[in-house]
Amino acid sequence: MKILMVTSEAVPFAKTGGLADAVSALAIALSRLGHDVRVVMPRYYRIDRSKLSLVPGPMGVHSGYQEIWTGLYEGVLPGSKVPVYFIDHEESYGRDGVYGTAGETDFNDNPQRFSLLGHAAFQLCRKIRWFPDIIHAHDWAAALAPIVLKFNERRGEFAQTSSVFTIHNIGYQGVYSKHLFPYTGLSWDNFYAAGFEDWDRMNFLKAGIISSDKLTTVSPTYAKEIQRPEYGFRMDGILRYRSKDLVGILNGVDTDIWNPQTDPLIPSNYGPKTLAKKAVNKAALQKRMGLPVDPDVPVVGIVTRLADQKGVSELFGPAYGSAWRICTEINLQMVVLGAGEQWCENEIASLSHSLPNFRAFIGYDESLSHLIEAGSDFFLMPSRYEPCGLNQMYSLLYGTLPIVRRTGGLADTVENYDEQTGEGTGFSFDNLTPQSILDTVGWAAYAWYNKRDHVNAMRIRGMSRDYSWDGSARHYEEVYSSARPSAGV
Ligand code: ADP
Ligand code: GLC
Repeated sequence: MKILMVTSEAVPFAKTGGLADAVSALAIALSRLGHDVRVVMPRYYRIDRSKLSLVPGPMGVHSGYQEIWTGLYEGVLPGSKVPVYFIDHEESYGRDGVYGTAGETDFNDNPQRFSLLGHAAFQLCRKIRWFPDIIHAHDWAAALAPIVLKFNERRGEFAQTSSVFTIHNIGYQGVYSKHLFPYTGLSWDNFYAAGFEDWDRMNFLKAGIISSDKLTTVSPTYAKEIQRPEYGFRMDGILRYRSKDLVGILNGVDTDIWNPQTDPLIPSNYGPKTLAKKAVNKAALQKRMGLPVDPDVPVVGIVTRLADQKGVSELFGPAYGSAWRICTEINLQMVVLGAGEQWCENEIASLSHSLPNFRAFIGYDESLSHLIEAGSDFFLMPSRYEPCGLNQMYSLLYGTLPIVRRTGGLADTVENYDEQTGEGTGFSFDNLTPQSILDTVGWAAYAWYNKRDHVNAMRIRGMSRDYSWDGSARHYEEVYSSARPSAGV
């Protein structure tokens, strides 16, 4: 099959979260299964043109009010032959930030920027004379591609093309003033027909859900959760309406990057049979973070966007968050790597100053994230919601027991510890409260100090689980095969 991935992020070119990991890894896994997969994304300012090849000639994209002349560059996903096409347009993408910056978290011209991406996907195909069977769009920023397919482009070479839309996070919908709707390049009839209308504003994600032939999300539990008001962010009704076209497929892990036996970013490689060598990484982590190097005290790691989705209010909320009590009442060390909401960064900085067993690095650091996975004993993810979550799977593969709230992909990947039998791969809780987080971390610490044989057996169990992308890619194949043009609403 010929598959075009439309996305605003893909590693290693642009990443704000797990979306970038998931898109690239899925594309590579599908190409290994024999499909002709290609990716299209914007050429953001930070993506170095000198490492790409220019596809000669300008590319005219009719988007919004005008014909926009863009450049087109081509690269490849490292370790594969998957071509990546970059839409080059200085005015739209020639700046820092994917969706925004710290000062302007959501650029006010995002409707123009991501409408351009949606239309450019089709012009790209015409330019390279390659027409996909499937257009697979990811999250709201790519949602215009299936919408344009359905309402403008499904003719000629695209007559048999179907669309699949994957929801990686329903909390981000791309909601803007409807006065910006003309930038989508669609006629006003489509404002209602395509499902953009959302309380008199326009909503890209909602239109993507209404207009795509098939829908997926990134774990089976999240597929069910988003059909309920508590998790649906107001989209639960239309998702229930489309439930026969919606499936949850768990993301995999890119084991070329995340494998403790080969990871070049950690000081000592190890596997289930050489687990003792994990201690070298623990000592290196403690040293790097300025903590006492002590093999006996458990280290709890966190790597996260500091956003409400991740349960950071319950963990770090001033005065009520559980981090202070965790670090003062339990004999452990806590290390945090994260960036995001300002209040939370400030709170974490202040905890670092006042607690001897709490250390944090505020910012984005790929290699430290590997060291935290390898060097920690436990990994904490108290997410409010988690469509899939990658870090708990990295943790399992690195013998670092996850402590998670039982939601979305966390519920699908972490098997709760059973104290009687020693079964399980981690520690789970249901209610997102500071007390539950404290209690569950306390439970993990109890197991560390009193049931070390269980802890070690759980580690080995987690490390032998299969999170490769092959299985997930085969599920996507099934979805592609069942997608038919003009199905859906
Ligand atoms: P989300 O996409 O919701 O942020 P995921 O668990 O799917 O959550 O993916 C997050 C990805 O981003 C992981 O690969 C994680 O290691 C990485 N990450 C998040 N914050 C940081 C950070 N501050 N430094 C390095 N990597 C980070
Ligand atoms: C989103 C979700 C995360 C998921 C990732 C990749 O960013 O928040 O849970 O793992 O997308 O699908």
